[in-house]
Amino acid sequence: MPKLPRVYVTRNIPKPGLDLLREECEVEVWDSDDAIPKDELLKHVPGIDGLLCMLTDRIDKEVLEAAGPQLKCVGTMSVGYEHIDVEECKSREIRVSNTPNVSTDSVSELTVALLLLTSRRLLEGVDAVKQGAWGKWKPMWLCGMEMVHRTIGILGLGRIGYGVARRLKPFGVSKIIYHDVCKVSYADDVGAEFVPFDQLVAESDVICICCNLTPQTKHKFNMVTFKKMKKHAILINSGRGGVVHHDDLFDALTSGEIGAAGLDVTEPEPLPASHPLVSLHNCIILPHMGSNTIDSRNSMAETAAKNILACFSNKDAIGDVIV
Ligand code: DGY
Repeated sequence: MPKLPRVYVTRNIPKPGLDLLREECEVEVWDSDDAIPKDELLKHVPGIDGLLCMLTDRIDKEVLEAAGPQLKCVGTMSVGYEHIDVEECKSREIRVSNTPNVSTDSVSELTVALLLLTSRRLLEGVDAVKQGAWGKWKPMWLCGMEMVHRTIGILGLGRIGYGVARRLKPFGVSKIIYHDVCKVSYADDVGAEFVPFDQLVAESDVICICCNLTPQTKHKFNMVTFKKMKKHAILINSGRGGVVHHDDLFDALTSGEIGAAGLDVTEPEPLPASHPLVSLHNCIILPHMGSNTIDSRNSMAETAAKNILACFSNKDAIGDVIV
């Protein structure tokens, strides 16, 4: 009987994904909800043919070296893959794949939820009720911003950016503008107009960051950018924390350079509760929960598993093949 490929899974993942792998592979799992420490990862990877990892696992040269030359594929259970040294994988002919599509709806939905939470000051309202600070109706109390007639700017009109645009259009926004590495054909479906980055920043009432973290997007939102934004503008980030310079964001929010921010992703993650941004009333921070739905998680695990199986049988991945 031919030897089954060996796969290491760096976390307890939903059963549909594990079941698929177990049908065709010898599978070992880091049986925990918490991230595997690096030294444990290094102990478990020698001799494996496939690695199913999470965005919290740094898959660098050391890990690839420890795994050995038989390693054929690294499949991450995430859309983002900045935690993987893709160049190193490429030089070793290791296929790297991710899980796009299956979390598009969950992340787009959360981005809009976070925007409304921020623009309508909903958490301040909830806190006021809890703290007994809800007095008689006041005309000027906790007034936020409506989406109707606003200009929405989206940085990164990929699957999620498009999902956000599609969801915001029925709110009666006046205009959707976007910036990306290039124009995308489906932008017309939502009437989104491609603009240079500086125009996006200057014209938008709301900016949603939906792009990846790359050397080009790293700290793209810094004080220079904030100064070009409208004073009432709201910044929403559900892409990657590193796109925003957090110290500058604090200064921009406290000096009135911009109106408010809603972050589902931060730098670092987790963001310590003592971080100055956490104390601000005009900054809402969620613990990177964009794709936290049962549907997305099951599909992400299945897709990551199918990507690995596809590599063993020389088929195309379901997700994107990064290298
Ligand atoms: C991803 O898939 O990259 C998300 O950030 C995880 O929810």
